[in-house]
Amino acid sequence: MFSLASLGALALSASVLAAPPPPMVAPYTPQGGLGTNSTPFQYAPLSDFDFQSLNLALNQEWIELDLFHYGLAKFSVADFEAAGLGAEDRFLIEYMADQEVGHAKLITNILGHAAAKQCTYKYSFNTVREFVDTCIQITRFGESGVYGFLEHLNSRPAAELLLQSISTEARQQMIFRQFEGLFPMPVWFETGVTQSMAWTLLAPYLVTCPAENPRIEWQNFPALNITNNPSYVALSNSSTIGNNTLPAITHNRSIPLSSPGRTIDLSWELPGKKVGYNQSYTTNTTAGPGKYAIWISQLNTTYTPLENVNGTTGTTTQPEGFVFGNGTAPIVNGTMFVAITDTNLYVTPFNLSMVNPHIVAGPALYMSG
Ligand SMILES: *[C@@H]1O[C@H](CO)[C@@H](O)[C@H](O)[C@H]1NC(C)=O
Ligand SMILES: *[C@@H]1O[C@H](CO)[C@@H](O)[C@H](O)[C@H]1NC(C)=O
Ligand SMILES: *[C@@H]1O[C@H](CO)[C@@H](O)[C@H](O)[C@H]1NC(C)=O
Ligand SMILES: *[C@@H]1O[C@H](CO)[C@@H](O)[C@H](O)[C@H]1NC(C)=O
Ligand SMILES: *[C@@H]1O[C@H](CO)[C@@H](O)[C@H](O)[C@H]1NC(C)=O
Ligand SMILES: *[C@@H]1O[C@H](CO)[C@@H](O)[C@H](O)[C@H]1NC(C)=O
Ligand SMILES: *[C@@H]1O[C@H](CO)[C@@H](O)[C@H](O)[C@H]1NC(C)=O
Ligand SMILES: *[C@@H]1O[C@H](CO)[C@@H](O)[C@H](O)[C@H]1NC(C)=O
Ligand SMILES: *[C@@H]1O[C@H](CO)[C@@H](O)[C@H](O)[C@H]1NC(C)=O
Ligand SMILES: *[C@@H]1O[C@H](CO)[C@@H](O)[C@H](O)[C@H]1NC(C)=O
Ligand SMILES: *[C@@H]1O[C@H](CO)[C@@H](O)[C@H](O)[C@H]1NC(C)=O
Repeated sequence: MFSLASLGALALSASVLAAPPPPMVAPYTPQGGLGTNSTPFQYAPLSDFDFQSLNLALNQEWIELDLFHYGLAKFSVADFEAAGLGAEDRFLIEYMADQEVGHAKLITNILGHAAAKQCTYKYSFNTVREFVDTCIQITRFGESGVYGFLEHLNSRPAAELLLQSISTEARQQMIFRQFEGLFPMPVWFETGVTQSMAWTLLAPYLVTCPAENPRIEWQNFPALNITNNPSYVALSNSSTIGNNTLPAITHNRSIPLSSPGRTIDLSWELPGKKVGYNQSYTTNTTAGPGKYAIWISQLNTTYTPLENVNGTTGTTTQPEGFVFGNGTAPIVNGTMFVAITDTNLYVTPFNLSMVNPHIVAGPALYMSG
């Protein structure tokens, strides 16, 4: 089915095709594009928006560096072996930490003397599998947090470099799934989220940061907890899953972790809580009472009604839906984002941030599929 907008786009492209091509500005260089000439440029932020987006991304790179080292140091070789991870797997994690050194250096170079330094962090994992699970989650919002702002940066040169580091992070995310024997990429599109959503998910891990670190200016929303979140970790002891949770390039899981129609139990905080490093940030919402859950995954934002609301708890139902209709990729699959909103505002990947003023709490990561 064509919308009026897509018919318009078709008509436009038809007329472009019919017209003789405009002269090329340089040999083999069709007209158009941005930044393709020899105008000088800098790999530097061009706005507060750029600075703060990169500041958030740098804080993200620092925690990943810490996390990978911390996990390697915390567990013994025997612990790793029991989870099916051998010496070469551990070297891969070490190599990922080295990649984070490079990513942090890159963004530090872009931001210059004001760049944030590394902080101290807290994690709640006690087993290798929980460590890997934490890596899946932190790289998930690290990756999606950048996709949400990359195309909005004023500085295209900075965006180019950041893209080259986040492409590596995306591979890390997938490898951690493979370390759990999960289907490595159960989506057709990796979703983006807003800076404020990423910051909300990052803040609970930060304990202290140096006083000179630039403040993170994004909104920190009240926390949301999916209290019956399915767990990849719990699968490891399930007899019906057998070896499916040992490391593998890919596994068809015989029993999905979650399916459309599943009731999701939600519990959220009220605004005004001190969070983040040195407890120096305060959660905030500008939204009215919660009415919907927003499911952010693939190219889609899907709303389901919030039900059984009692104070700061409620339920909703995992939606059905496919990216391009029946038979294509299910929208809800993998580690994805759920938040509570006061309205069902229609947004698409490029204008997702319009939903920020309507977030009551969250997002939380949902372990679906
Ligand atoms: C946070 O606390 C640490 C340890 O007390 C201190 O060194 C650091 O300067 C503080 N940072 C901020 C932003 O206040
Ligand atoms: C979320 O809910 C679960 C289940 O009640 C609980 O075990 C967990 O501690 C909660 N997480 C947070 C961060 O409050
Ligand atoms: C899985 O089994 C191991 C060993 O039997 C146990 O220590 C661990 O707590 C179990 N994990 C979960 C998530 O049930
Ligand atoms: C798990 O793998 C081992 C070694 O490949 C095999 O002997 C065992 O039967 C498998 N267990 C299950 C439940 O598939
Ligand atoms: C894996 O799952 C797909 C989709 O459900 C199915 O078509 C395929 O036969 C499965 N393959 C195996 C080896 O289980
Ligand atoms: C939340 O943010 C809005 C917009 O900046 C501000 O007007 C409001 O005072 C803040 N609320 C709290 C509780 O800090
Ligand atoms: C609402 O929550 C309160 C406190 O948790 C509980 O005592 C009460 O029974 C709940 N009400 C309903 C209708 O479930
Ligand atoms: C998911 O997003 C795609 C692209 O915008 C759209 O075509 C499709 O209709 C959406 N699917 C659902 C179920 O909303
Ligand atoms: C998708 O398939 C189901 C089952 O075959 C059918 O009931 C439903 O109407 C289909 N939906 C669409 C949008 O085609
Ligand atoms: C977001 O963009 C879509 C077009 O992709 C548009 O239809 C929608 O109205 C926009 N939403 C808002 C809140 O502006
Ligand atoms: C999630 O994706 C996997 C891999 O494509 C597929 O086997 C599974 O059925 C999907 N889950 C749901 C709930 O559709």
